[in-house]
Order: sequence, then structure tokens, then C-alpha cells
Amino acid sequence: MHDDEYDPFAVFDKSVGLGVVRDPYPTFAKLRHDSPCFAGRIEEAFGLPPMPQIMTAKDEQYYVALSYDAVSQVLLDGETFSSAGYGETMGLVMGHSILEMDEPEHHRYRLLIQQAFTLKAMEKWERDLVGPIVHRLIDGFVARGQAELVRELTFPFPIQVIAAMLGLPERDLPEFHRRAVELISIAVDIERGFNASVALRDYFATILAERRVHPKDDVISVLAQAELDGQRLTDEEVYAFLRLLLPAGAETTYRSSSNLLYGLLSDPEQLEALRANRGLMRAAIEEGLRWEAPLTGIARSATRTTVVDGVTVPEGAVVSVCIGAANRDPKRWSDPERFDIRREVRQHMAFAFGSHTCIGMHLARMETTVVMNALLDRLPNLRLDPSDADVHITGLGFRAPRRLPVLFG
Ligand code: HEM
Repeated sequence: MHDDEYDPFAVFDKSVGLGVVRDPYPTFAKLRHDSPCFAGRIEEAFGLPPMPQIMTAKDEQYYVALSYDAVSQVLLDGETFSSAGYGETMGLVMGHSILEMDEPEHHRYRLLIQQAFTLKAMEKWERDLVGPIVHRLIDGFVARGQAELVRELTFPFPIQVIAAMLGLPERDLPEFHRRAVELISIAVDIERGFNASVALRDYFATILAERRVHPKDDVISVLAQAELDGQRLTDEEVYAFLRLLLPAGAETTYRSSSNLLYGLLSDPEQLEALRANRGLMRAAIEEGLRWEAPLTGIARSATRTTVVDGVTVPEGAVVSVCIGAANRDPKRWSDPERFDIRREVRQHMAFAFGSHTCIGMHLARMETTVVMNALLDRLPNLRLDPSDADVHITGLGFRAPRRLPVLFG
């Protein structure tokens, strides 16, 4: 297949099709109401067959933390709730990445990679990468008066941003995009996922070797140079981080910007309020993340028996941390099911909490701000295309609309 025939979204969409639940929130609400920490697997509550677990529990002991308090307790206590279990699943394709590290290894590694995510880098990325990428994509449809914003904008832009941050040559973008999508679609095609993991490693190896000798102004060069107490990242540590960036940085941002757009397009009054007053942007972005977190669940395993928001969780159990349920806990937000950009901004769990809090959250917020401002500046009278009556957000573990057909002008 040639790159011009390859449709990355079609490949990706196949994996999204797995185990789709259109609206998990009523079930999350019922479970949370019954117990802040449910004993069982999340799919049981949805009447779904057992799904591959992201971590394996001792003696089949699975729990789901649902209340805001339960979720924050688990995420804040990295000693009791370990991330190491990701190694048995995601680690197989990513390599030993920061995601599966516990302290003190995690802290050292995080300090090293954080050197690539400075405020100065963020300003440069906004001006030199994100702005031009977003505007170029909008140039592709602005004259048409209609567009499908997922395929034409929210899906492609975050991968292009990562490729540009890494300093990859533009000619490599189609191949990089294809491999990135294959890697993140591993749930549907394991062999393809593994092949993509190896291909990406080989690809990054050539570039890393080059940057170690001739550093440039990009993330791979910063990672090649980063030093802490005389120690540097090994090549394998760099590859694991670069592979993690694809699901962690690109897929989530595509989903979060699509979800925010869906919320606004479904409520034109709020869309127009934001168009008129960009001072609402920060609150709108946080509300989009709270209301429809792109990733509804992460996981931890209990290193000792502990009480979580009143429920005893035994040593060896795996706790699925339900960000989606925590973000709509009525003890913390009034009318939590409602999307409301005028809500007071409060800490939510979309970026997790504690030591593993998303390292890319400022980047994700900046990217979403650029996309939203560009759309609001360039597409007057932006609205959902009424000829498509069934546009909706879908998914249990990962959520986003499949399509956002719009008219404007
Ligand atoms: C709206 C977009 C995003 C969301 C909702 C999101 C969400 C999350 C969540 C929930 C975690 C915690 C995972 C866990 O501990 O199990 C996480 C970690 C992480 N995210 Fe993000 N993320 C987003 C964007 C990004 C971006 C743009 C990047 C980088 C380019 C990024 C890089 C990372 C990394 C490297 C980690 C691991 C941090 C650690 O383990 O210490 N994320 N993210």
C-alpha cells in the first residue's frame, strides 16, 4: 500500500470500534453511588465479556476507584499504589517507559525528560510549530464552507506537532503517522503493533545517533543531552519515551480537542459566548476535560492492603482508576453531567494527579487553545451539519466523537 492510499484514521477507527459503549456515565454514576470503590471489573458493570486488563491482579482481585476522593487517594499514594504493572502490557510495546516506573526511579527519569518541556520550549512550539500546523490544516478546507473536523483537523494535528517537536524531516511524516497509528492500535492487531514498535525504534535510533553528534533545537537533541548528577538517559530510555509520546501525547490531544468541540457545537450559545469572550477559553478547556475526559481510566496495583474511601483493597489487587467517574462526582461538582464553560475551574482528574500527573498537560492546553482560537477566528457561524443527526462522543476507556461534520460561513 502506498502512503497516498493509506488512511490512518480508518486504521485507527477500527481499534476505536472495540467494545464501544456510547454513554458510560449513567453506569459510572450508579456504581459510584453504590460504592466509592467497586469490587469487580469495570466491564462486568456494563455487561461486557472480560476484556484484556491493563494490569494483572493477584487472585483475580479487581477494584474500580470511582469517587473523586477514592481516585485522588490512589493517585497521590504511589507507594501503596504502584504503576509497575503497566510493564506487563504496555511495556511490551513501549519499552520501559516513565509510565511504569515507581519512585525513586520515576523521579530521576522525570527530571531528565522534563528538561524538554520548558516554558521557553512551549512558547517556541506555539509560535513555530502548533500555530503553522493548525492554520495549514484549516487552509485545506476553509474555502469549502464545510468540513469534517476530526479527519481534517483534530486527528492529524497532534501527531504532526509531535513529529515537528522531535525535529523529524517533513518527508518522513506519512510513514511516521502510519507507524504511530499502528502502535496505538495494538489492541486490534498485535503483530502490526509490535512491528510498528520495532520500526519506530530503528527509525529513532538513526536520528538519536545523529543528534548525539550534531545536536539541533528539538526534543530528541534535548533528551540526548539531558543530564542529572552526571547521568544521562540511555538509548533504550529515550526510545521508550519517544514511543510513549504517541499514545500519550497525540491520541489524547486529538480526543480532548474533539470532545471540547463537540460540547461547544452541541450548545451554540456556549460556542458563541466563547467566540465573543476568549477570556472564557481556559475555563472552557478545563470543562471539556472534566466533562469528557479523553482517557476515562488508568490503573495501579496495591502493594499492601489499604482502605480506599472506606473500602478495603487487599494487597495484590489491581485498582482501575476511573477518571471519568471522579470527574463527574456530585460531591465535588453540582449538576456534574452538564457541560458548562462558565463553571468555576477546580482540579479535575483528566491529567491524573500526584507524581505521574501528565507531563504534557501545558502543551495539551496550549494546543487546544491554538486550535479553538484558529477555528473561532476563521470559521464564522460554525455549526454542526444538520444533515448528520447522529454525531456523538463514544467509547468506554477512550472517548471521542468519530466525526464532527460542520458547516460555516
Ligand atoms: C488532553 C491531553 C492529555 C491527557 C488527557 C493526558 C492524560 C494523561 C494521564 C491521565 C496520565 C497519567 C497516566 C498514569 O499515571 O497512569 C498522563 C501521563 C503522561 N502524559 Fe499525558 N495527557 C495528555 C496530553 C499529553 C501530551 C501532549 C504529552 C506529551 C507530548 C503527554 C505526555 C505524558 C507523559 C510522558 C506521561 C507520563 C508521566 C509520568 O508517568 O510521570 N500527555 N497523561
